[in-house]
Amino acid sequence: MHPGVLPEMAKKHGNVFTLRGGTQPVIILSGFETIKEALIKHSEIFAGRPLTPFFKVITKGKGIVFANGHTWKQQRKFGIVTMQKLGKKVLTHQIQAEAQQLVEIFASANGQPFDPSLPIINSTSNVACALVFGRRYSSSDEEFLKLTEIVNYNTEFGGTFSHLLYETFPWLMKHIPWPYKKSFVCVDDLLSYVKKEIEKHRVEPPMEEPQDFINYYLFQMEKSKNDPTSTYDEENLFQCISDIFSAGTDTTAKTLQWALLLLMTHPDIQEKVHKELDDAFGPSQTIGYQDRKKIPYTFALIHEVMRYKCILLTGNPRLSLQDITILGTFIPKGSMIVPDVHSVFSDPKIWETPKKFNPSHFLDKDGKFVDREELVLFGAGSRVCIGKELAKMELITFFSNLLRAFTFKLPEGVKEVSTEPVLGFTLTPQHYKLCAIPRNSET
Ligand code: HEM
Repeated sequence: MHPGVLPEMAKKHGNVFTLRGGTQPVIILSGFETIKEALIKHSEIFAGRPLTPFFKVITKGKGIVFANGHTWKQQRKFGIVTMQKLGKKVLTHQIQAEAQQLVEIFASANGQPFDPSLPIINSTSNVACALVFGRRYSSSDEEFLKLTEIVNYNTEFGGTFSHLLYETFPWLMKHIPWPYKKSFVCVDDLLSYVKKEIEKHRVEPPMEEPQDFINYYLFQMEKSKNDPTSTYDEENLFQCISDIFSAGTDTTAKTLQWALLLLMTHPDIQEKVHKELDDAFGPSQTIGYQDRKKIPYTFALIHEVMRYKCILLTGNPRLSLQDITILGTFIPKGSMIVPDVHSVFSDPKIWETPKKFNPSHFLDKDGKFVDREELVLFGAGSRVCIGKELAKMELITFFSNLLRAFTFKLPEGVKEVSTEPVLGFTLTPQHYKLCAIPRNSET
């Protein structure tokens, strides 16, 4: 489905309408005011997550993304607090180090055309490794390559024909050797890898303060072992880790790929970014998240990429936990709700030039960055993405360090490149090649 379809349907059927035809009816929330009314004003009523047959088998309803009730509340709170602690202490430096690595990898292409998608996904995966395992890997490390392959397979599997078939006929699919079986094997492989990591962490000499997610989790398990309401156990730990990899690596990587593609198709905007970076920083400084206030245009651009080339087909589904009426439409308990984020991002009442890539959407008249609640890409309310800050840290750090080092150009002879997405659950850029021309070598 094209992302423009649901906003068109809302024009005909109103801002709350039902899609039928799949395994269960889906209620679409269209427009910012509707999404706000439901997900923010009635946050607790829409705090549920539907667990479809495939994800029920894969996640067992554990962890954060597909958990509900007490387990979800406890695991989510733990995730948020731990990420905040690690963010300040370790992640800021890890992301800067990763950005330097990425600059080196781009530089090794010597200005020749290459596909940036693999180095980018390796970088965002390495940030997840730093968060969860407390270390990064070299991009040729066998274990790392296996790990990223597993995670990528399962992220790409979502939304495929085979996946949708499983969701529709789960009883039948159990007897057919379709690619979903590989997806289950990937989960088992990830589980055995994570188990090995947990054991390694268990035998490490105790540290004064935990340094990664597993450390913090094991500490919490020990602390709450006599608490009958505790959900801190190895199954939830594994699923939290799996959630961090699957929700956090591909999303961030795809956004960065869009950003580089859009710069090549908007050289005037690329020039403005270069100027801002040159005015703000010396030649050998590594730029970090803490520097974002010095580069409002670049920070605004990152937000505009997320609006203009939103990587999600729709917002993530929710489940209503009580009967409720939203803007005059009755929604019964147990309904599946989907916020249509594209209806917000294409609304001319919200954005000056919705069809144009325009970083000024996130700037005030004095050129200062303005964070806008209408950028509902990370969801809203009680289940808003817990990695929102981390994603922004990664995006601004990777992007600004790359832009300071290179001018991005299309390969010689390539006059045009498509900015139409490959359609699926995520809206991915089509494979493209770029030339990263070192700026210090330009005349
Ligand atoms: C550009 C990058 C990202 C985008 C676009 C994105 C988007 C989203 C969206 C739309 C949701 C669903 C929110 C809702 O139901 O309202 C979500 C949830 C979630 N995200 Fe992200 N995300 C990104 C990066 C990350 C990162 C880096 C992490 C790593 C920790 C992460 C972890 C999660 C988790 C654990 C949830 C589940 C929250 C819950 O159900 O309570 N995300 N994300």
